[in-house]
Amino acid sequence: MPNTELQRQRERVVARGMGSAMPGFARSAKGSTLVDVDGRSYIDFASGISVTNLGHGHPDIVAAIHAQVDRLINSGAPVMMPDVYVELCSRLCAVAPVPPPAKALLVNSGAEAVENAVKIVRQATGRPAIVSFHNGFHGRTLLTMSLTGKVHPYKQNFGPYAAEVYQAQYPYPFHDVSTEDAIRGMRQLFASEVPADRVAGVIVEPVQGEGGFIVPPPDFLPRLADLLHELDIPLIADEIQTGMGRTGELFAVENFGVQPDLVLLAKSLGGGLPLAAVIGRAELMDAAAPGGLGGTFGGNPVACAAAIAVLDVIERDGICARAREIGAVALQRLQAMQEGHQCIGDVRGIGAMVAMELVRNGSEPASDLAASVLREAHSRGLALLRAGLYDNVVRLLMPLTISEEDLAAGLDILERALEAATTGATTDTAAATTR
Ligand SMILES: Cc1ncc(COP(=O)(O)O)c(C=O)c1O
Repeated sequence: MPNTELQRQRERVVARGMGSAMPGFARSAKGSTLVDVDGRSYIDFASGISVTNLGHGHPDIVAAIHAQVDRLINSGAPVMMPDVYVELCSRLCAVAPVPPPAKALLVNSGAEAVENAVKIVRQATGRPAIVSFHNGFHGRTLLTMSLTGKVHPYKQNFGPYAAEVYQAQYPYPFHDVSTEDAIRGMRQLFASEVPADRVAGVIVEPVQGEGGFIVPPPDFLPRLADLLHELDIPLIADEIQTGMGRTGELFAVENFGVQPDLVLLAKSLGGGLPLAAVIGRAELMDAAAPGGLGGTFGGNPVACAAAIAVLDVIERDGICARAREIGAVALQRLQAMQEGHQCIGDVRGIGAMVAMELVRNGSEPASDLAASVLREAHSRGLALLRAGLYDNVVRLLMPLTISEEDLAAGLDILERALEAATTGATTDTAAATTR
C-alpha cells in the first residue's frame, strides 16, 4: 500500500497520541538506509532513536535471531528461565560499571527498566522518594512520566502524577547552569522539599537525550556521585539512550569515571528487539523477594540472543572507538555550519551523540526553525530527529556502523536542509526519491 493510502488508513485506525517524527511508512532497511513503502530511501540519522546502533539488519544479529527462533521463542522466565537469559545477565554483569558483585534483571522497555529500578531502590532502602532532573526523560508510563522533566507533550493532561517524585536542576553549560548550580540545587532540595534520609534514589541521564543532548561538565557526575555516597542515597544511571557504545564508551558514565549503584539499558540492547535491563549492586538487586520483579515477556530468549550478538559485535568490531570517530567528523561539520549560521547557538556532543541548538537573538529557542530543518532534511532523504525542552535541538543519532560515504552524504543533506530552512528555499523532494 502506498504512503498516501497508509496515511489515510492511519488516521482512521491509529490513536492520534502515537506520533511520528517523519511522514511516510517504513518498509525495509539495511545498514544505514531506511526505505519507505513508495521506495524512497533515507540515510538514517535517527536509528529508531538509538535502537539500531549497529545499523539495520546486521548479519550477526539476524543470524543469532534466526538460530534462537529455531531453538526456543518463549518459555517465559517466570515459568522456566531460558538459558540465554542467564548468559546475557552474566555478560551484562561483567561489563556494567557498577561496584561488584553485580546482578541483573531483564524487562521489555526503557520505561519498565526505570519502573523496576525505582521498585528495587525503594525495597532496598525502605524510603519512598525519588529525585530526577529538569529536562530529563524516563518514559511514558505513569511513574516514568512523573519523573520526566518536560511537560509538552509527555505530561500534558495526563495527571495526577505519581507521588514522592522531586526534581533538581541539571547543568546546562549553554544556558549558564553550572555544576556548582546543580549541586547547590540538589542540596537545597534536600533542605527545602525532601530530607535526604527519605530519598530512595536519584535517577540521572549521564547525558540528557530527549532534553537536548545536554552534556554535563566533566565534574558534575563525579560530584553528584560523591554527594549521594555521603548521604547513602543510591544513584541510578539511565543509560537507555546513552548506552551501548553511543557516547564512545559502552556506558556513558565511563566517560566521567563514575560508578552508579544501578545502570539501565534498553533501546540498542536488543539490536532492534524489545529488551531492557537493570544491572546493579547485588545487595540492592536482591532486596526484592522472588516474584516481586519481572513479567511475562521480560528476557524473551530471541531478544536475549540478539543482545548477546550485539555485545559480541561491539567488542569485536571496536564500535566504541568508531563512535568517537563518527562523532568527531559530525561535530567538526556542525561547527563549520555554525560559522555561517547565527541561528546555531550551540554545537555539542560526546561520541556519536551530537547536536546543534537552534536559537534567535543568541539564546531564545527557535523551535519553528528546527521543525523546518527536519522537514527539509526528510524531503531530501535524511531521517532526522529533534530534541530539547523547546524542541529546538537537531540531534544526530547515526548508526555506529555507518560508512564514511553515508556519513558525509547525510551531513551534506543536513547542511542543505539548514540552508533551505534559513533562506526559505523550496523543498527539493526529488532528492529523496533518487537516492
Ligand atoms: C533516557 C531514556 N529513558 C527512558 C526511555 C524510555 O524508554 P522506552 O521508550 O523504551 O520506554 C527513553 C526513551 O527515549 C530514554 O531516552
